[in-house]
Amino acid sequence: MNREKHFRSNPRVAIVGASGAVGGELLRCLERRHFPVGEMQLFASARSAGKTLGFNGSKLVLREVTEASFAGIDLAFFSAGNGISRHFAPLAVAAGAIVIDNSSAFRMEAEVPLVIPEVNVERIGEHRGIIANPNCVAGIVCTALWPIHRRNRIRRLILATYQAASGAGAAAMEELRQSTRAFLDGRPFESRVLRHPYAFNLFSHDTPVDPVTGSNGEETKVMAETRKIFADPELRVLATCIRVPVLRAHAMAISLECERPIAPGEARAMLEDAPGLRVVDDAERNYFPMPKDASAIDDVLVGRIRRDVSDPTGRSIALFIAGDQLLKGAALNAVQIAEHVAF
Ligand SMILES: NC(=O)c1ccc[n+]([C@@H]2O[C@H](COP(=O)([O-])OP(=O)(O)OC[C@H]3O[C@@H](n4cnc5c(N)ncnc54)[C@H](OP(=O)(O)O)[C@@H]3O)[C@@H](O)[C@H]2O)c1
Repeated sequence: MNREKHFRSNPRVAIVGASGAVGGELLRCLERRHFPVGEMQLFASARSAGKTLGFNGSKLVLREVTEASFAGIDLAFFSAGNGISRHFAPLAVAAGAIVIDNSSAFRMEAEVPLVIPEVNVERIGEHRGIIANPNCVAGIVCTALWPIHRRNRIRRLILATYQAASGAGAAAMEELRQSTRAFLDGRPFESRVLRHPYAFNLFSHDTPVDPVTGSNGEETKVMAETRKIFADPELRVLATCIRVPVLRAHAMAISLECERPIAPGEARAMLEDAPGLRVVDDAERNYFPMPKDASAIDDVLVGRIRRDVSDPTGRSIALFIAGDQLLKGAALNAVQIAEHVAF
């Protein structure tokens, strides 16, 4: 059968990292969006080999990923970390698959499109086998700010994040649960996944700090990827990334300066019309985006849209956003990319 035709109608799909936090959401997104999977193969490490996961009413057995795993695969989602992507994604491409990669392994490579369909869907066509899914913060921030940026260019962006445990994977979520129970019971708890005590605490993102810039790895990714997604190398951006003891969904406080003056009402109108966003901005009830409301939904919540009074020129506004980073920040965005590749 013609491979391209088969791919378009009924791709054979692999998920590498299927047992992880993002992998589980990939399965659920493909199911609920009725992605026309011809055949599904699930891979993880040897630790998970033999376990089963449900998909479209069937139980599928997880297997250890190997160099031979991609024969006959049309579309491979990778969500098993940088090392696995670096090693296996080129092998998957060589075997004829298109790879959608959730790791940061290829995101900044010039020939690899870094895609949010609401922002730069046209980049998908440039791929040479690998399409990168953005960092979870960059994905959520760019989805929320693109409707403004495309009309009144953002020149400077300052953001602080409130990042949930799920951003660090399934084990970090479990560590938050267990350490919170231990804290409430007055029992000692030794952190194994994250560097610092997580219950009733918050801390700077636990990626290494660059001694030259002072930014940690997460902040560096957010800044570089935002410029790449917006195709705007001149954008001045500073991120401060913080882990907070929330189970799921990241939040961000943002201040941005545009090229021309912008009124909060104008920004709100731009955001209200935009795909993938929901404005939650009820000052009377003091009701704004919260991780609990953003969890397990596709839309990114945007609110607290107000003038940044620290800029007297009227070109700056502030806002607060929350988005499920397992969905728009990872699995949902990856499946949206796949839909554009496949149809
Ligand atoms: N969490 C997020 O919000 C988020 C957002 C954007 C991007 N990402 C990226 O997505 C990837 C997965 O993140 P996650 O949060 O889903 O992590 P996770 O919950 O820790 O899951 C990791 C997955 O990778 C698999 N894996 C680990 N080592 C492996 C190996 N040597 N060989 C094969 N499979 C291996 C694990 O399999 P076992 O269960 O067998 O160990 C598991 O399926 C990472 O690259 C992460 O940076 C995550």
